[in-house]
Amino acid sequence: MSLESKKLLDRTTQIRSDFPILDRKINGKRLAYLDNAASSQKPMQVISKINDLYSNYYANVHRGVHSLSMESTEAYESVREKVAKFINAGNINEIIFTKGTTDSINLFAQSWAKNNLKKGDRIVLSEIEHHANLVPWFMLRDEIGIELAFIPVLDDYTLDIEAAKKIINSNTRLVSISHISNSLGTIVPIKDIIDLAHHNNAIVLIDGAQSIPHQNMNVIDLDIDVLVFSAHKMLGPTGVGILWAKMDILKQCEPVIGGGDMISKVTFDGALWNDIPFRFEAGTPNIAGVIGFGEAIDYLNEINYIDLCNQSHVISEYTRNLLEEMEFVEILGPKDKLLRTSLFSFDIKNIHPHDVAQILDSEGVAVRAGHHCAQPTLNKFGFSSTVRASFYFYNNFEDANQLIESLQIVKKRFLQ
Ligand SMILES: Cc1ncc(COP(=O)(O)O)c(C=O)c1O
Repeated sequence: MSLESKKLLDRTTQIRSDFPILDRKINGKRLAYLDNAASSQKPMQVISKINDLYSNYYANVHRGVHSLSMESTEAYESVREKVAKFINAGNINEIIFTKGTTDSINLFAQSWAKNNLKKGDRIVLSEIEHHANLVPWFMLRDEIGIELAFIPVLDDYTLDIEAAKKIINSNTRLVSISHISNSLGTIVPIKDIIDLAHHNNAIVLIDGAQSIPHQNMNVIDLDIDVLVFSAHKMLGPTGVGILWAKMDILKQCEPVIGGGDMISKVTFDGALWNDIPFRFEAGTPNIAGVIGFGEAIDYLNEINYIDLCNQSHVISEYTRNLLEEMEFVEILGPKDKLLRTSLFSFDIKNIHPHDVAQILDSEGVAVRAGHHCAQPTLNKFGFSSTVRASFYFYNNFEDANQLIESLQIVKKRFLQ
């Protein structure tokens, strides 16, 4: 092991102490939390930040002239700037707080697509999308008659870029696509897709739910038009997400939810909208969630999360390699290392994924079993559900070995 890797591993050990939940015993066993693609755990810094807000300076935001309201507004609004810096957005007013990735995509569908597309216009998706990037577009198709087309997934679990060149055509107005598949772990070459879309004058929405927690995202360098992601997958609280879009595009959007905070003036005859981004954020927002998310971003920056995520990728690959040696396990996901992230789905023939996950749980290993909100993708490969192990930077080799040893127990219980 190189000195660099050793240092990173020591750092992982140190960082684990920031996550109180990792000390928990599950069924008397040490916890190996490998369900990070569903949601990450939270460090003490985020938990304390929320505690501090409620203990010391909580009040509603944007409303009051009293000290508490001003303090909480300042803390809340400062997160917009943190998020903008995190993704290298040029303008903090392009950051819209939502409830999560799902909410962001639905908001974009209803506020931009519904008001700017017409019957027959094409939206291109792919065959490896989460339901959150399928269902809002099905709803819109049924509402206004847009056409949906899908970039196929190949047998090697990567997207068919040659096919994409034909599918993204001059009729295409939007390409909405995941950066990383949550069910297969496939990394999509988004730059190629963005270039193809722009060549056809279409805009691109990137679902960064699975990528942003692990890697640097620069919306300007990549020339992304719209980016969506969730706080809870990157140490933040649940109920907070981001919709970022270029200001020109936000100016084409109509508000979807009406109420307080999103107006500049209301009379009995009607209302005038507030400025962007507030016109898209009606009602009292998730104040504690957003402030907690700001702390999560500070924490990620402080620990230099990119290096640590690279290390957790090494651990994920180590685990995957051991799984590949288990003849009773079938792994889904790209064979090419460079095209996959720190998660993998697998199946054990003749054992239901829920049974596998239950035995793993009895050994302290938390994994996800089911369709991972990607039913069409799994169906395409002949599965209705799989087991999924997903890693984050606080995972260590002990977690990996615990999974492998627990799978041997599954084998003994069901297959011998
Ligand atoms: C790729 C992808 N898109 C969208 C979502 C939906 O995120 P949320 O449930 O936070 O809205 C997820 C969640 O797993 C995901 O992995």
